[in-house]
Amino acid sequence: MEIIREAGQMQRWAETARLAGEKIACVPTMGYLHEGHLSLMREGRRRASRLVVSVFVNPTQFGPSEDLNSYPRDFDRDCALMEAIPVDTVFAPQPADLYPPGFQTWVEAAEITRGLCGAYRPGHFRAVATVVAKLFNIIKPHVALFGEKDYQQLRTIEQMVRDLNFDVEIVAMPIVREADGLAMSSRNAYLSPEQRASALAISRALRAAGQKLAQGVRRAQELREAARVVLDAAGELNVQYLEVVDAQTLEPIGLIEAPVLVAIAAWAGRTRLIDNCVLVPPPAPTP
Ligand code: PAJ
Repeated sequence: MEIIREAGQMQRWAETARLAGEKIACVPTMGYLHEGHLSLMREGRRRASRLVVSVFVNPTQFGPSEDLNSYPRDFDRDCALMEAIPVDTVFAPQPADLYPPGFQTWVEAAEITRGLCGAYRPGHFRAVATVVAKLFNIIKPHVALFGEKDYQQLRTIEQMVRDLNFDVEIVAMPIVREADGLAMSSRNAYLSPEQRASALAISRALRAAGQKLAQGVRRAQELREAARVVLDAAGELNVQYLEVVDAQTLEPIGLIEAPVLVAIAAWAGRTRLIDNCVLVPPPAPTP
C-alpha cells in the first residue's frame, strides 16, 4: 500500500492510472477508521480497479468551539485496517498543502445545507463541499463512496456534483451500526459507559418513528412525538434537533407521502452524535 502525502504527487499517480485504463474509486475519510468506513472501502474495491482512501482531518469544517484538536487520530492503526481491505493508495496530506497561504475559493451548495446540521454548524458544509471538490480534483476518481450516516453531507456532495458537472459517480452506502443499534462513529470513542448507554436512545427513537409509519400514521408531527418520548426517557442526552424532512430536498414536511428522512442530533455530554433513517411510506391502496 502506497502512502502519498503531496497533492501534486497524488495527481500524477491518478493521471498515470487513468492513462493505463484503470478505474479509480475514492473514499474520503478523516481517519480513526471503523467498520462504517471499511464498508465503503470494500464496496469501492468491488466497483473499481484502483482504490484510494484519503485520511485528512479537514480543519476548515470544524467550528471554533468544535473538536478539531481532540479529534481522534491513529494513522498506524488506520493503515493496518486499510492494508487488509486492501487499499492501493492512501492520500494523507498536510493542512498546509491543501490550504496554502492565500487560499480563498469555496464551494457552497445553498438550500440543501440550510437546515438540519447546517443550521447549527455555520460554514461546515461549505468546508466539506470545498475539500471534497479538492479531493476529486486531486484523486480524479471515477466513483466516490459516502455513508448515509452523514445524510446531509451526502446530499450536499450529490448536489455539488450535479451543479458543477463533476464527472464522478456518487455511491451512497447504508449506515453501519454496533450490535445494539448505535451508529458507528469515530466520535463514539469519546463516550463514557453511561453516555454510551444513553446514546442508544437515538437509534431507538428512530425505530419508534418507523413503527408509527408502519402503523399507518402519516403526520410527521406524530412520528416526531413518538421519537421524542424515547429521547426524553434517556438520561444525559441533550437533543439539538429531531426532524422529519423530505428525503430529497431536506425541507420540513407535514404529511408523509414520499420518502422522508428522520434525523436526530444530540449531545451526550460534550460529544455531538447524529443519526438518521429514511422511511418510505407504502403506496396508498388503490380504490
Ligand atoms: P468521516 O466522518 O471520517 O466519514 C468518512 C465517510 O464514512 C463518510 O462518507 C461517512 O458518511 C462515512 N461513515 C461514517 N460513519 C459511518 C457509518 N456508521 N456507516 C456508514 N458510513 C459511515 O465525513 C467525513 O469524514 C468528512 O466530512 C469528509 C467527507 C472526509 C470530508 O472531510
